[in-house]
Amino acid sequence: MNAENNHPASGRLKGKSAIVTGSATGIGKATAMLFASEGARVVVSDIDDAPAREVVNAMVAQGGEAIFVKADVSKPEDAQHLIETTVRSYGQIDILVNNAAVYRGDGDILKVPDEVWDKVMAVNLKGTYLCCKFAIAQMLQQRSGSIVNISSVNALMGFSLTAYTASKGGVEALTRLLSMEFGPNGIRVNSICPGTIMTENSIAIYSERPGLEEQVTKMYPLGRLGEPSDVAECALYLASDASAFVTGASLVVDGGLTSGRKFDLDYT
Ligand SMILES: NC(=O)c1ccc[n+]([C@@H]2O[C@H](COP(=O)([O-])OP(=O)(O)OC[C@H]3O[C@@H](n4cnc5c(N)ncnc54)[C@H](O)[C@@H]3O)[C@@H](O)[C@H]2O)c1
Repeated sequence: MNAENNHPASGRLKGKSAIVTGSATGIGKATAMLFASEGARVVVSDIDDAPAREVVNAMVAQGGEAIFVKADVSKPEDAQHLIETTVRSYGQIDILVNNAAVYRGDGDILKVPDEVWDKVMAVNLKGTYLCCKFAIAQMLQQRSGSIVNISSVNALMGFSLTAYTASKGGVEALTRLLSMEFGPNGIRVNSICPGTIMTENSIAIYSERPGLEEQVTKMYPLGRLGEPSDVAECALYLASDASAFVTGASLVVDGGLTSGRKFDLDYT
């Protein structure tokens, strides 16, 4: 059984090795847990040791295979260590999910401190670039691999968060370029653009701001906010051979948020 959604696991990643960055919590954790339940050997990677080790322990307790590799994705030496440790442990890298990201301290352009801009760019965009760079060097030798970059609806339409939005726009552009450059080598590169997802952090943010969750939920045509499993299921599809002919795609997982705006106009 997949822990998150109670679907029967069917070994869709059997025999594959997968790295999920920022998988101590939230969407990364849900993705890593789902991958393990589908038979992948999973590298749980994060800057935060304790909760990441708990994720590994939970996977192993459920009969999965997983290791923890501590890495700050914004540091080239850490990204390289992550890739090298995965290859040493599991022989190759079939799947890389670039999920780690930050947004704390971001805001509108007149208020966002330059240090916050630099930090957000360093983790969200440079971190994705670094992990792609080292993973692709390995995937070229294998002549196979699937990279899934977790982007955001912020890359598709303006909301808020200046640095975060720009960083995710960069992730989208990088995804398209890499898919084109390395498709001939059997490497697929796709992104996922989630809307609001009720992670542990989102729940904490809404619990401190009465009424905000209801206000945000009204923006979603499906009438609810997303769950980490909603994104994890899409990451599983893009990571697995089920999406063998899909590359350079942005899979929007947003309950219809960016599909348009309902106007009460009468053309009859
Ligand atoms: N939650 C949402 O509503 C939402 C919406 C759209 C997109 N996303 C994207 O989904 C992804 C996951 O988001 P989330 O809400 O689960 O995040 P989260 O904050 O719950 O988890 C992020 C994880 O990344 C880790 N991390 C932070 N900096 C790191 C670094 N330098 N190196 C390695 N790990 C680091 C954190 O320790 C944490 O475990 C992100 O890319 C985010 O931008 C989230």
